[in-house]
Amino acid sequence: MNISDSRQSSVADRQLLELTLLYQFSNTMLSTLRVKKLTHLILTAITTPSSNLFERAILFLRNEKTNVLQGMLAVTRQQSDGLQIVSGQDALGSRWEISDETILRQRSDEYCQQVRLTRIEIDGVCPLINKIVTERTLCRSDDILCRQCEACRFIKPLCGGAFAAVPLIAREKTIGMIVVGNPESACKISNDNLRFLQLYANQAGMAIENPMLYNRIEEAHLSLKDARERLLHGERLAAIGEMAANLAHELKNPLITIGGFAGRLLKSLPLATREHRYAEMIVSEVSRLEKMLSEILAFSRKPTICFNYCDLDEIIQDCLASCAATFEDSGITVSFASDSLPWNVLGDAHQLKQVFLNLILNACDAMPEGGSLFLALEKTALDKKTVIATVRDTGGGIPKEMLPQIFNPFFTTKHHGTGLGLAIANRIIMNHRGSLEAHNTKQGAMFTITLPLAETDYSPGL
Ligand SMILES: Nc1ncnc2c1ncn2[C@@H]1O[C@H](COP(=O)(O)OP(=O)(O)O)[C@@H](O)[C@H]1O
Ligand SMILES: [Mg+2]
Repeated sequence: MNISDSRQSSVADRQLLELTLLYQFSNTMLSTLRVKKLTHLILTAITTPSSNLFERAILFLRNEKTNVLQGMLAVTRQQSDGLQIVSGQDALGSRWEISDETILRQRSDEYCQQVRLTRIEIDGVCPLINKIVTERTLCRSDDILCRQCEACRFIKPLCGGAFAAVPLIAREKTIGMIVVGNPESACKISNDNLRFLQLYANQAGMAIENPMLYNRIEEAHLSLKDARERLLHGERLAAIGEMAANLAHELKNPLITIGGFAGRLLKSLPLATREHRYAEMIVSEVSRLEKMLSEILAFSRKPTICFNYCDLDEIIQDCLASCAATFEDSGITVSFASDSLPWNVLGDAHQLKQVFLNLILNACDAMPEGGSLFLALEKTALDKKTVIATVRDTGGGIPKEMLPQIFNPFFTTKHHGTGLGLAIANRIIMNHRGSLEAHNTKQGAMFTITLPLAETDYSPGL
């Protein structure tokens, strides 16, 4: 074989190697949608001794929001021995594989960790980064362009000397770059190897972008599915609400009649007789059912709000007065802290009273054997334009798994409950541009209402 023959055969060998690598790469792309695994495969294939291309490869990905190139992964020749070739039907059908242990080992390598902390700003100052990101062309560190600026200060030490960088392009955009170098042997990076790197990077860009797009579609699909379920749930609730409202409406009139006649009977029957006791039971059960129906109707009716200046302190005092008998019967002590008067909010006093009544009665239900109820009104520390009202009890609190459900209409743990009290309260507060939240304290439940104070009441300088 003469010199020209042997040169030709080495060129052919080289082309065969490149072609095989490119084939294996495209087969690999089809075999996984795991971006992390793909990035390890991409860098390992060009640093592994059998390909004999580079001794070090680093991957940077571009964060479009912050316009930064973020170091993602580095593979050195010492760490590149985990690449396996999985054969296919013929020589061109083979692909690469890498184990999770190798991925973990490569990732926890100190050098890789150092790379992952590297961020290069794409600020238009570094000619090298400009050339890669904007002009999308391959670049060498010893090109005339490089003036040892910030970006090279990051890349050069990572590469331990001369390096070359090539852009990763997908859908006409630079999504990152691969930086390669030969620090161990200090061998010059050959033009042939760089030409191959360019080809390789074109495939790598698409290979990394595809699973990222797929993941984004998957995420969008999940959030759409979630939204659809919530809509369906809402529709179902609306249908149940409408049905309940119709039923409540139909039941209310006969119930009023039953209650009325039972009341009359009660008055005419002699005390301490069995009949008197029965009539008493009818009256009390009818009044409970009437209350339940009013709650259902209140919930299903579209609320009409008459906004007026009202004082929260007065509203709470009113509620406490209406519940005085219940507190006494159940042995509940009440304390109400409200120092700086008045607490003016622009709202519907009747509806706000309903909110506090619901919270207070729930607290009483939670403390059948007695306990303490604490109410307080205070301003937010920050802007002084918001009032925070708290209703806290010592009734043991709300089981953690139930917390997300208590504001759902018809959710109740009580034998005679409607599960509408908190749903109504929440809707009223939301209509007043406020928020209602539930927490557990050491002793019981705490409900926090936040409402905007009426303009007249806050002085910004306070
Ligand atoms: N202060 C509280 N302590 C413990 N659990 C509470 C308290 N307030 C509400 N809950 C829970 O939230 C559920 C829903 O309350 P609500 O909407 O008022 O309906 P209802 O009172 O008719 O059950 C209650 O059944 C109860 O389990
Ligand atoms: Mg209730």
